Amino acid sequence: MLNSEDKEKDLNLPTHIAIIMDGNGRWAKERNLKRTAGHEEGALRVRDITTHCNNLGIKYLTLYAFSTENWNRPKLEVEFLMKLLERYLKKELPIYLKNGVKFKAIGNLGRFSKSLQKVISATEEKTKNCSGLTQVLALNYGSRDEIVRAVQKLTVQNLEVSEENINKCLDTAFMPDVDLLIRTSGEVRLSNYLLWQNAYAEMFFINTYWPEFTPFLLDDVIHDYRHRERRFGGI
Ligand code: FPP
Repeated sequence: MLNSEDKEKDLNLPTHIAIIMDGNGRWAKERNLKRTAGHEEGALRVRDITTHCNNLGIKYLTLYAFSTENWNRPKLEVEFLMKLLERYLKKELPIYLKNGVKFKAIGNLGRFSKSLQKVISATEEKTKNCSGLTQVLALNYGSRDEIVRAVQKLTVQNLEVSEENINKCLDTAFMPDVDLLIRTSGEVRLSNYLLWQNAYAEMFFINTYWPEFTPFLLDDVIHDYRHRERRFGGI
């Protein structure tokens, strides 16, 4: 398994990894379990992968936890995901603090319940001085929605329309573009995820459901990433 010494030996590790955590439902169905059991198991992988990225010295890990389109799921599943998120953040706080993980949320958070919004902002506030990995959860996130909100901010502030100013008005203003994008479950699409920030990302579509995605599999992806040549449009 990769470890933090690899960071020192080889500066070619990604700074920002983004993941579309897909396949919780199919994982559960194949085991004759309820879809919610897949989400429960998925939340455990969120912890494993976050810990592993922190140990490796990765600076940013952005996870697609709830999209603007996910409200269209059955009411009970949406309610379950909301409760799971709240429970996860409360349980995770001491672990973030112990490991030096900073927590941030991106997305249009105003649609969540007041109690979930409170937990999100309290977790951000309490971890704001942590200096290890920044774990970013994309919550009620949609890239088009984010770009529209950014352009609205530009207009209100009467700012010139430029790449730099758009970057500053996106939810992701505090971090660099994505270096490495991973989608689990075998689906090959971006699903409205970080469309602007993935402009030059290296992409990996993995045939494994999210609840089965282990640190070993992440190491394999990082290994391949390190050997890709990134040209950013040059030659
Ligand atoms: C996609 O699988 C997954 C989601 C829409 C939600 C992601 C949620 C988690 C990984 C668990 C909770 C997260 C945290 C941070 C506590 P799917 O349900 O679309 O699977 P399917 O495509 O097989 O139906």
